[in-house]
Amino acid sequence: MKAVVVEQYAPIDQIALKDVPSPRIEPGQLRIRVEAAGIGFVDGLKIQGLYQTKDPLPFIPGTEFAGIVAEAPGEPAGYRPGMRVMGMTRSGALAEEIVVKPEALHPLPDGVAPEVAASFRANYLTALYALSARAMIVAGEQLLVLGAAGGTGTAAVQIGKLLGARVIAAASTEEKRAFARAHGADAVIDYTQAGWRDTFKELTGGHGADVIFDPVGGEISVQAFRSIAWRGRHLVVGFAAGAIPALPFNLPLLKGGALLGVDLAQIPTREPDVQKRLMSQLIGWLAEGELKPAVGRVFALEDFREAFKTMQTRSALGKMVVRISK
Ligand SMILES: NC(=O)c1ccc[n+]([C@@H]2O[C@H](COP(=O)([O-])OP(=O)(O)OC[C@H]3O[C@@H](n4cnc5c(N)ncnc54)[C@H](OP(=O)(O)O)[C@@H]3O)[C@@H](O)[C@H]2O)c1
Repeated sequence: MKAVVVEQYAPIDQIALKDVPSPRIEPGQLRIRVEAAGIGFVDGLKIQGLYQTKDPLPFIPGTEFAGIVAEAPGEPAGYRPGMRVMGMTRSGALAEEIVVKPEALHPLPDGVAPEVAASFRANYLTALYALSARAMIVAGEQLLVLGAAGGTGTAAVQIGKLLGARVIAAASTEEKRAFARAHGADAVIDYTQAGWRDTFKELTGGHGADVIFDPVGGEISVQAFRSIAWRGRHLVVGFAAGAIPALPFNLPLLKGGALLGVDLAQIPTREPDVQKRLMSQLIGWLAEGELKPAVGRVFALEDFREAFKTMQTRSALGKMVVRISK
């Protein structure tokens, strides 16, 4: 089968597509013919060996995928050949086939395209967990989303609207702000402008942000926290800008505010019941068409490097997806 293979941790230009043997299937596992894989920020770090955990070399990157069950010996958890699924795994999704345990999978509702399914689970679960299980946002609250046209940011805009919040989307370019608006943002703001906090204050009628969804980090995070409302909650999601901010401790005191961490990787083990509840809510919204996940750009498998580069050069709108088999 064809697969992207990382033989040495390196920039994406040095990673190649190879012909490798199909993975072996063990009892209790399923073989999936991968139709599409979503590219996340973490995948880009893992390839370069820059992520907090390192995958042993050689490895096939890619953590999120959609496809069709090709082999299901003993039909574990009721999965049968031909069923359409989406899944999440530690690695291996940028390949024509992947072998996983049934716990990694969810059946795909009818009518959901593979590109959509491959853009779904990580970002939308992160957004829903952050906004509902951590910030406990309620209808009518003002939500500020930083990096609002990125993968997690777009998910937070859409989930925020579904939960009844008033969403203000912060992004660096006109094109990105238009993308955020098209996905439901009530108002947009250019947070690269010096006076952006004054504009934000006006947009909230002087109130500030009840909840801040922050996948960006750096100096912007501290500025955003200064614009938080009384009893506001600032969700620490990621550090796409590179720097981990340091927040002066007097700010939470003065604002009556809280800093809340969000880590998708730990939800399955630490809060399995919460994950189950949130996934069934997300899949319900997906099946009913209430939630239409934003697919950014779709690339052919041969062009996988372009998908990574688009994300790594801050030019992505939404999630980048690699289409693998027809
Ligand atoms: N905590 C969790 O469970 C969890 C889950 C998923 C992802 N994450 C993390 O969240 C972060 C964002 O992930 P994502 O998938 O949303 O990424 P993304 O699609 O690349 O979006 C990140 C956004 O950050 C902004 N940004 C500001 N400075 C940047 C820079 N120097 N380089 C790139 N982007 C920059 C960009 O928006 P503007 O150009 O508009 O500023 C961009 O749209 C990553 O650190 C990722 O590891 C965490």
